[in-house]
Amino acid sequence: MGGGWPYKEGWLLGLILGLLLQGNSNVFTINCTGFDVHGLNPAAFQSVFDKKAFRPVVNPNMPTRVNISFALSAILEVDAQIQLLTSFIWLELFWKNHFISWDPKECGGITDVTVAAEHLWLPDIFIVEFMDVDRIPTDLMAYVNYQGNIKYKKPMKVTSICKLDIFYFPFDQQNCTLTFSSFLYTVNDMLLGLEKEVWQMTDTSQDLVQTQGEWQLLDIKKATPKLAVGSSLYDQIVFYVAIRRRPRLYIINLLVPSGFLIAIDALSFFLPAESGNRAPFKMTLLLGYTVFLLMMNDLLPASGTPLISVYFALCLSLMVVSLLEAIFLTYLLNLVTKQPPPMPLWLHSLLLHYLRATACCQKRLRKENGPPDPSAICVPSLKELGGRAWLNGDLPSTWAQLEHQQKVDIWVKFSLVLDTLLFCIYLVFMTSSLTTIIVLWQN
Ligand SMILES: *[C@@H]1O[C@H](CO)[C@@H](O)[C@H](O)[C@H]1NC(C)=O
Ligand SMILES: *[C@@H]1O[C@H](CO)[C@@H](O)[C@H](O)[C@H]1NC(C)=O
Ligand SMILES: *[C@@H]1O[C@H](CO)[C@@H](O)[C@H](O)[C@H]1NC(C)=O
Repeated sequence: MGGGWPYKEGWLLGLILGLLLQGNSNVFTINCTGFDVHGLNPAAFQSVFDKKAFRPVVNPNMPTRVNISFALSAILEVDAQIQLLTSFIWLELFWKNHFISWDPKECGGITDVTVAAEHLWLPDIFIVEFMDVDRIPTDLMAYVNYQGNIKYKKPMKVTSICKLDIFYFPFDQQNCTLTFSSFLYTVNDMLLGLEKEVWQMTDTSQDLVQTQGEWQLLDIKKATPKLAVGSSLYDQIVFYVAIRRRPRLYIINLLVPSGFLIAIDALSFFLPAESGNRAPFKMTLLLGYTVFLLMMNDLLPASGTPLISVYFALCLSLMVVSLLEAIFLTYLLNLVTKQPPPMPLWLHSLLLHYLRATACCQKRLRKENGPPDPSAICVPSLKELGGRAWLNGDLPSTWAQLEHQQKVDIWVKFSLVLDTLLFCIYLVFMTSSLTTIIVLWQN
């Protein structure tokens, strides 16, 4: 019994003393005498360094508040195929180490010192989207002030997963998230906060991102949802980083040449169909376009179906269709000049109707613009066509030849009208589909 009392007493005394000392921050005061004369004394800090393994709070029930700030200094790569964003950031962490404090008056007004970060407890803040090992330099320093406030800054090359949508390539915007959270500590042990306002971080980042690379930083927004895993709740800060692609390279290398080629293809309808030059010309154009697509394939995103692929496919099919039309027309002209079949009556009257309408239009135009041309054909008929052929000097030796010539003539006329009609359909289809794509890109 007698031996028990001193033990119990000592334990009680220790508890009371401990409680008293907890309120008294002096117990963790570093003796900084002579720092300004002899430099820092490692022995004075030894007690702090020894406690490195523990969260620096006096009462373990008290959460540590870690304030975060970061600046994006470069957007290095955006890989749509594996959905990764590689960026470079400067992460700043601020927290209070309750084991450190000293009186600046005792040591010539020294208010802050730098300490090798490896000797201090560091918060285990990580980025949830991180898809790589953290390769930060190991010998970093931290600023420690006389009240125990610590400022720790580290550079990070962040390869983070990001949901990329390349449909609007090359006019796309991406919205990537960077979620900062503690690896281990729940809300009972660690709370996260922001050191600066988000707009200040955005401004700093926009100043820092000096690279005139492909990507431009638009905006950073934040959200602070808590993450519940089982029964534990983790604090986290989510940053939404909005970036936009600079499309100039792709406009110059992809869209403009493609536009030129399709314009030439449209203009090649003005080559005379009878000369037979049109089909070879279009064939060459198509070949050129295929080579262009092969060469520029590297510039396109490797995965997904962006709108630009639809645009290329559309241009290619327009060229193929116009080549087919040229081939068909050459075939038709060839056929009708050799063996013209009799023209169906409805087709003939339709053709006459059309020709009359256009010719009268032309007449009206001529009347308005100058003296009428006597050789204007207003209403061609079978007889007239034959007559003209005769006047032109191809004197038909027999009536059958004359009839043949008439047939050929009316068929050639029909072919040319058909050509104009198909050209109009082609133009309407081309302009409507290209405007649709451009309007989609505008959004
Ligand atoms: C601080 O350390 C110096 C010697 O380095 C010693 O003289 C002084 O008494 C110490 N002060 C306190 C408050 O312990
Ligand atoms: C963190 O930020 C809050 C509010 O901005 C501030 O009250 C607190 O002192 C900061 N904590 C640290 C350790 O800097
Ligand atoms: C990015 O996405 C988040 C949520 O999906 C949204 O709150 C935020 O406004 C988006 N940012 C931009 C710039 O679109």
